[in-house]
Amino acid sequence: MKSLPANNPDWLIKKIIKKGGTISFYDYMNFVLNDPNNGYYGSGKAILGSKGDFVTSSSMSDDFAFLLSKQIDEWLIQIKSKLICNDNLSILEFGSGDGSLISGIIQYFLNCNKEKLKNVCFIIIEPNIGMIKKQKKKLEKYLKLGINIMWRSIEELENKSLNGVILANEVLDALPVERIINLKGKTYRQAVSVDKESGRLFFEKIKISKELEEGISFAQEKLNINIPPKDAPEGWTTEWHIDNKNWLKTVYEKINNGILLVIDYAKEAKRYYSISHSKGTLISYKNQQIIEDVFESPGNCDLTSHICIETLIYDSETIGFETLGIVKQGEALLLLGLAERLFKIQNEIKNDISKALSKREALLRLVDPICLGDFKWFVFSRFKKKKIKINSSCII
Ligand SMILES: C[S@@+](CC[C@H](N)C(=O)[O-])C[C@H]1O[C@@H](n2cnc3c(N)ncnc32)[C@H](O)[C@@H]1O
Repeated sequence: MKSLPANNPDWLIKKIIKKGGTISFYDYMNFVLNDPNNGYYGSGKAILGSKGDFVTSSSMSDDFAFLLSKQIDEWLIQIKSKLICNDNLSILEFGSGDGSLISGIIQYFLNCNKEKLKNVCFIIIEPNIGMIKKQKKKLEKYLKLGINIMWRSIEELENKSLNGVILANEVLDALPVERIINLKGKTYRQAVSVDKESGRLFFEKIKISKELEEGISFAQEKLNINIPPKDAPEGWTTEWHIDNKNWLKTVYEKINNGILLVIDYAKEAKRYYSISHSKGTLISYKNQQIIEDVFESPGNCDLTSHICIETLIYDSETIGFETLGIVKQGEALLLLGLAERLFKIQNEIKNDISKALSKREALLRLVDPICLGDFKWFVFSRFKKKKIKINSSCII
């Protein structure tokens, strides 16, 4: 094989060739994100935060974890009292990134409600070893304090064993997706091929799979959405989150009494699958820049795709979750006291003006409607006794 262009690494080319030279887009996304040695998350190359490749709410501002913790505390109090639940409570986070959110939540309880930490355990479900190392480093000081933090695989948790709050902030958008493409009036599954001579990656089309066909029929029958939409232009492409339903089902099975909070980029189905969104929602990030070409530097960039609001709700409810509410992040954080945090920062200006200004900027970005403020908070619940009423300050 000739030497390859810098952005097409040998490890990936070899993997694709080993699989016959063509793989589904789903497999491509899975490799470049989760390969244990070379994937963006798998190897731990992912750098989150304002000095990294992209920001998540928790990696950008401590105030996010603070405000969310107020909501978590409110939920835990209700779970404990309304259920007269004597079991220990858990705060479980899927896909903890660099550990910022759990770290911020623990800090909140240390500062505001230390007693609670005696009866709460923290569980992280993180499949990528590279990210686990980062999380352990970040949380080392809390482990040394004796705070109960454990890393588990989902399979290690017993069914109906969780009482508490389950969090997934920007995790579903990192799960590999299938891509669907419309070519000459026919619908195909998008694939990725490699040119064996040059090592160049290119898109290929393959026959639509049975699972994808089912997804497309589901969208039509249950959501009244055509994929592709009527009069879709040549090359119209979209994503299908093929793993979400199984993920929700597995989480549901593990909960005894609890609230699941999913926070993510999300679009309504009629916009997601519209003619105007002809390239889908897939985005690649590196150094705080959006990279148009998803073949750019595979394994060194984030790849992410928006969630479809109605599909997530439909799947959750058919599995058995109750939807307590869906709210924009900007509104949720305002309801949880963001304005008071802003006011507090004003008072800090006289001590350290540049620190106070950057804190204020981060706080405003969390609610900015064209930025993180447009993220959706999906609040679902599962309780043994169905009629339990739960108050959520983050929901209007
Ligand atoms: C964008 S980061 C989310 C960061 C974090 N939640 C935060 O608030 O900053 C995506 C995380 O999900 C993890 N991840 C990927 N696939 C996952 C899966 N199937 N289950 C749980 N976590 C997963 C990644 O390794 C990474 O830690």
